[in-house]
Formats: sequence, C-alpha cells, structure tokens
Amino acid sequence: MQINNICCIGAGYVGGPTMAVIAKKNPNIKVTIVDINEERIAAWNENDVSKLPIYEPGLAEIVKETRGKNLFFSTEIDKAIDESEMIFISVNTPTKTYGKGKGMAADLKYVELCARNIAKVATTDKIVVEKSTLPVRTAQAIKSILHNTGGDVNFSILSNPEFLAEGTAIQDLLNPDRVLIGGESQDAIESLANVYGSWVPQDRILRTNVWSSELSKLTANAFLAQRISSINAISELCEKTEANVAEVSKAIGMDSRIGPKFLNASVGFGGSCFQKDILNLVYIARSYGLNEVADYWEQVIILNDHQKRRFSDNLISTLYNTVSGKKIAMLGWAFKKDTNDTRESAAIYVADHLLNEQANIAVYDPKVPSKKVYTDLNYLQTRSENENKELVETFDNPYNAVKNAHAIAIMTEWDEFKTYDWKKIYDLMKKPAFIFDGRNILNKSEMEKIGFEYSSIGH
Ligand code: UDX
Ligand code: ADP
Repeated sequence: MQINNICCIGAGYVGGPTMAVIAKKNPNIKVTIVDINEERIAAWNENDVSKLPIYEPGLAEIVKETRGKNLFFSTEIDKAIDESEMIFISVNTPTKTYGKGKGMAADLKYVELCARNIAKVATTDKIVVEKSTLPVRTAQAIKSILHNTGGDVNFSILSNPEFLAEGTAIQDLLNPDRVLIGGESQDAIESLANVYGSWVPQDRILRTNVWSSELSKLTANAFLAQRISSINAISELCEKTEANVAEVSKAIGMDSRIGPKFLNASVGFGGSCFQKDILNLVYIARSYGLNEVADYWEQVIILNDHQKRRFSDNLISTLYNTVSGKKIAMLGWAFKKDTNDTRESAAIYVADHLLNEQANIAVYDPKVPSKKVYTDLNYLQTRSENENKELVETFDNPYNAVKNAHAIAIMTEWDEFKTYDWKKIYDLMKKPAFIFDGRNILNKSEMEKIGFEYSSIGH
C-alpha cells in the first residue's frame, strides 16, 4: 500500500521523536501526532521549541524544520485516524496498579481504547502498527478488537518495537542497529519497510513473525538490564574486597564476546522500560507455569532494588546512623542524563528511603521541573503531600542546593556535574562533607584532595 498519511496516537517519549524523524526523512508523507492530553499537544505546538514537552538532544531542531510542513500535532484524534493509511499506537503501557497481575503485568487499557477508537472511526483499510512496549500476544488482542468491532474495512496489524534509548533517541532513530517489523501481511510489512527504507539500509530492516518481534523487544531489554544488575552485583563484592569495579568492567568488556557497553555500575537502572518489560516477561513465564524461567529474570529486578536500598543504607550509616533533620542534596532526578524523564528513576526511591529517616532533601536537576519531583514522590503514597512539601525543597541552581548540606548524593550522570567548582561546593557544605557518587562520575582522589569524604559504587 502506498503510504501518504501517517497518524500516530500518543505524543510521548516514543511517538514524538519517532514521528519527527519519520517526517524529516519522508517529506512526502504527512505525519500527524495526536494525543488526548491537550496540554501536551499545546506544548508540542509551542513557537519556542525549547519549551517542547520532551527534552531530547536534536529533537527541537527537527521539530522546527518539519512542523507545519509535513509534521502536525493535534487533539483531533478521529480525523487523523480516518485520513491515514497507517496508524502507529504509541500510548503508554504502565505496569498494572490494580487487579489481576497488579505490579507485574502491563496495563493495556490505553492500547485497547486506541484499538476500539480505530475500529469505530475507520472507513478505509488501515495498517495498524504497535509501537508501545507490549507484552507478547498483544497484537492478537488488537487484531481481535479491530476485526470484531470494526466495520467493513481491512486491518493489518504490525509489531514494530522501538529500540531508541532516551537521551540518544534522535541518533538511535537516525542510525538504528536494526528496525524490527513483525507481521502476517507481506504487503503491510513492505509498506512500513518502505517508510524506514528512506534512510535505513534494507539489510538492517528485519522481517519476522509478530510474536518474535514482540518477544525480541522484551528480551533485548531484559538482556540489557541483566548486564547492569550483573555488574552491580559485582560492585557490592568489590566494595568488600580490594577490587575496583571500573577495572573489572574494563577487563571483562575487552573480551569481544562480552563487549564494553552497559557495564557501568550505578545506583540502579531506571526508566520506563527495563523494569516494566522484565516484569512482563516474568508474568508471562509464570502464566505458562515456567517458574524457573520467571525466577531467573525476576532476580534482575530484585538485585536492582537491592542496589538502590544499599545506596541509601550506606549513606545513612556513614552519616553516623542518622539523617534526621540533616540536609541531603541530591544532584540529578532524571533516570539518566540528557532526558527530563523521571519514570522509575533511582532518585525517587533513594529519596523515599531517606525521607523515611526524616532527612531534608534538596533536589537539583538541570531539566526536571520542580513540580515533577513532588508528583513522583506523592505517587508513592508513602507520606502525605504536605509532608513531602515540608521535607523536600527543589532548586534551579546547584550551589544553592548544596548550601549547608551534610552530604551530596549524585543520582544522574549529567555532564555538567563534572564541571562544577567542587572547592566552592565543599566550602558551602557542613563538615565533614560527604559525597555519595551513585554514578561514579567524579574523581575520587581529586575530591579527597579538596577535603570531601567520597564514596562511589564498587570501589
Ligand atoms: C532502554 C533501551 O536501551 C532501549 O533500547 C529501549 O527501547 C527502551 O529501554 P532507556 O530506558 O531509554 O532505553 O535508557 P538506557 O540507556 O537503556 O538506560 C536505562 C537505565 O540503565 C538508566 O537508568 C541508566 O542510567 C542505567 N544504566 C545504563 C546503568 O546503570 N549502567 C549502564 O552501564 C547503562
Ligand atoms: P512513551 O514513553 O511510551 O512514549 P508517554 O507517557 O511519554 O509514554 O506517552 C504516551 C502518550 O499517549 C501520553 O501523552 C498519553 O496522553 C497518550 N495517550 C494515552 N492513551 C491515549 C489515547 N487513548 N488516545 C490518545 N492518546 C493517548
């Protein structure tokens, strides 16, 4: 099928950057991104592109170049669905917070709503592409809804999982290791392959069946997260011995069978995908009675939770077993650098542990707005919103955040942290001044020379 109009439902971290790049590389295709969230669409339409709802290096430039030409942001969902030949579903699929599979399974209510809406509105044949991270066999559910509730039109369902990592989304999209397209209809697969074919070499476009495509996404994320949990497990052992985890990472990474990437020990992985996808994998394995398989993957998450807890426990015990009434400055709130996304960020959980010990928390992050810090903490429902307001303060300047702090916890690997005047920071803090470097970005001997009590992960 010749594609002239694409509609993408969901203007989030996946839909926004992916469609911006598709529009840039296919000037003849009209791409419309729709969302139920009016505020978000308004922000995407902001004249000043520095105010887009998503921060991602390189994104603002592409939006500026394509918006109003062949890239559009709108809340008119039905119109965009009807006009398009191809519809991407890029809505959120959070872990269920209620009912069967609570805390494990993906909540597919937003995907289901989209499918029902497409079925209701469509008057011509559509290719429906699932882009959201979804558990295996979701395409089947979408297909069944479309076929049973739709009118006389033909729907082809494709699975096209997103492999972009936040913070490098534009580069990942422009130069993907591979694009995966799973489906039954060869014609539909080739239509989508053509869209990507405008910039991705054909040998990097993999065609598979739907189930392989869906499972590959979960498996890729599970393998990546497993590497981090593996090196984090070794980091704890390093702290008990004379070994240095950075040296171990380097040594094992030079084995070409292992490779150097994703071996940075840290306070723990965050983000919207890793935990959710592994929980899905575990849930699916358990539902087939594969308990050993489920337990195996679940351990990746158990280790990650342990790493976050270990970090805050270490901070508390180093501060003479009490942080009550002490000011702890947290540098970084995002789950990684170069994004304003905070989903599952280690910072949230570490802050929560410290707040349970009645610490006062001062937060500075270069891209995360103050409001988000409070929403993240309130969402945990560990304490009242008023208590969070009282105990947590946010700053738009790091030097104000660290004033009179007993300790600094580095939660995100933002490059700017390395360029700070650390002598000045030392002078502003209470003594002894502690740094807990959850990302191993500072130099231990330099920090000790200034006078800091410095500890990192796995040294
Ligand atoms: C991930 C996958 O990489 C991507 O392919 C998929 O489509 C979505 O999920 P993302 O969550 O955006 O992407 O970020 P990623 O770079 O994978 O980092 C995830 C977390 O792991 C971050 O908190 C990061 O700081 C942490 N991490 C990463 C480490 O702690 N150590 C490492 O060596 C690498
Ligand atoms: P992701 O990281 O998967 O892109 P986000 O939460 O950033 O997740 O984005 C998902 C977007 O999908 C949100 O902006 C949300 O408002 C939108 N959305 C959810 N359900 C629907 C729906 N039924 N119709 C349109 N948009 C939806």
